[in-house]
Amino acid sequence: MNQLSLVTRSGEHQLPLETGKTIVAIAKSQKLGWGYACERGICAQCRTLVIEGADYLNEITEAEKLRLRKAERAEGYRLGCQIKVVQEGNVTLAHRPY
Ligand code: FES
Repeated sequence: MNQLSLVTRSGEHQLPLETGKTIVAIAKSQKLGWGYACERGICAQCRTLVIEGADYLNEITEAEKLRLRKAERAEGYRLGCQIKVVQEGNVTLAHRPY
């Protein structure tokens, strides 16, 4: 079964895959500590490392292109408030604020 794994300071949390919702929104609904302040791609408190399943996520947004350096994006960093799962597959993401 496809799973969404969210890695926070408190450990790894396995959740059923939910498409079309941002990772920040999912983390909030599960009461997981995934920092956020703006939910508009500005504060980067939600910075996220994509460990597995990049192909199942939405395209990098304009806000992410503006906020994250190209080198960070190449390493797999994105913003949790911008990421949505768009296709079925196993996805693992880690919260990695600065
Ligand atoms: S919550 Fe501010 S950039 Fe994601």
